[in-house]
Amino acid sequence: MSLNADATFWRNARDHLVRYGTAFVPAIIERAAGSFVYDADERPILDFTSGQMSAILGHSHPEIAEVVTNSIHTLDHLFSGMLSRPVVALAAKLADMLPDGLDRVLLLSTGGEANEAAIRMAKLVTGKYEIVGFAQSWHGMTSGAASATYSAGRRGTGPAAVGSLAIPAPFPFRPRFEKNGVYDWKAELDYAFDLLDRQSTGSLAAFIAEPILSSGGIIDLPLGYLAALKEKCVERGMLLILDEAQTGIGRTGKMFAFERDGVTPDFLTLSKTLGAGLPLSAMITSAEIEEKAHALGYLFYTTHVSDPLPAAVGLKVLEIVERDHLTARAAAAGQRLADGLRSLQQRYECIGDVRGRGLLLGMEIVKDRHSRAPDNELGYRIGQTCMDLGLSMNVVQLPAMGGVFRIAPPLTVSDDEIDLGLEILGRAIDAAHHLKA
Ligand SMILES: Cc1ncc(COP(=O)(O)O)c(C=O)c1O
Repeated sequence: MSLNADATFWRNARDHLVRYGTAFVPAIIERAAGSFVYDADERPILDFTSGQMSAILGHSHPEIAEVVTNSIHTLDHLFSGMLSRPVVALAAKLADMLPDGLDRVLLLSTGGEANEAAIRMAKLVTGKYEIVGFAQSWHGMTSGAASATYSAGRRGTGPAAVGSLAIPAPFPFRPRFEKNGVYDWKAELDYAFDLLDRQSTGSLAAFIAEPILSSGGIIDLPLGYLAALKEKCVERGMLLILDEAQTGIGRTGKMFAFERDGVTPDFLTLSKTLGAGLPLSAMITSAEIEEKAHALGYLFYTTHVSDPLPAAVGLKVLEIVERDHLTARAAAAGQRLADGLRSLQQRYECIGDVRGRGLLLGMEIVKDRHSRAPDNELGYRIGQTCMDLGLSMNVVQLPAMGGVFRIAPPLTVSDDEIDLGLEILGRAIDAAHHLKA
């Protein structure tokens, strides 16, 4: 009998765990190494989501393990008012890697927290309170971040923060605005801001955006969009917060996704990928904004702010990504993966679209390519079948979209592992169609 069928384990899970979102995978994961996780039967499962889109160095990277071991023995956690070398070194390293205007760093634990910190600072320094996001966004579960999250979770817990507003993200696969048959995101953006200006009480503080909306279905902002968005913000005295939880630290083939656009945001938030799977996040802003916030009494005091252990991990992550040229590797591996997905698309009518950048790719499942009618059910079945065949893929079900696979292997993934993932995916699509029939 499979060791995954441990009745006590599942009874305890059922009786004592709070369910917080998606259904649990029906396997007991015992260990993880490189691009694979292993269940209780020692069955390898290829991890094409880098855990929760975070483990860019794969699992249990030996150098990260060494840093964690050393830190826990020598410098673990401190009074939040104390500073240590890893914290100051990581702040200086990030500032050095980033353009002028992103000079001051606050080190925290999660993505939601980093966004919360940015939103709080934007409100304080502008003296305004309206925060605008995309209608397909995800920024976290804490209340400020959740108020700016529109892709899920808005029902049943009362009002979001006063002044929460949204505009549609530009989406060429399902365009709403066209000129002469061509998607016109500029017209859509103008219209969105026209509506925003009408709804605003004159207190627009900030816009928060992901360069590629991940939980929203891998919606890649077209080149030029971020610059146009920044211009709209400047015109209104709003600050721009870029949330690079998933796109930061090499994943898109650039160290930071915004580099492609040549736009420096007022705030950059990093999380998931910065700790490569360990809880580390950063909120980064300009010296000017930080000075003003400090003078106004900015408070963001948490238990794990400026903790040395995760900071030491972050430093090592950056060192490895630079040393091993993982940004270039993400571009090359991403190209191989995208080519493979596009050749699957030639074979299977249900693959409506392949999109994204580097090693953050989306594959949308539709009923047929002509109508582009969403097929969430088939997407779900393909996802389940992939897992049965040893490939972990994350499929998000979104309104007015087919099931969208978010494909984000570690940046350390090998060519053979990419080919293995594509081969399993092809078999899963065949099997899922068969199941339907
Ligand atoms: C773009 C983005 N921002 C923020 C978050 C929230 O991060 P955390 O779950 O670490 O709070 C997520 C999580 O999925 C995310 O995808």
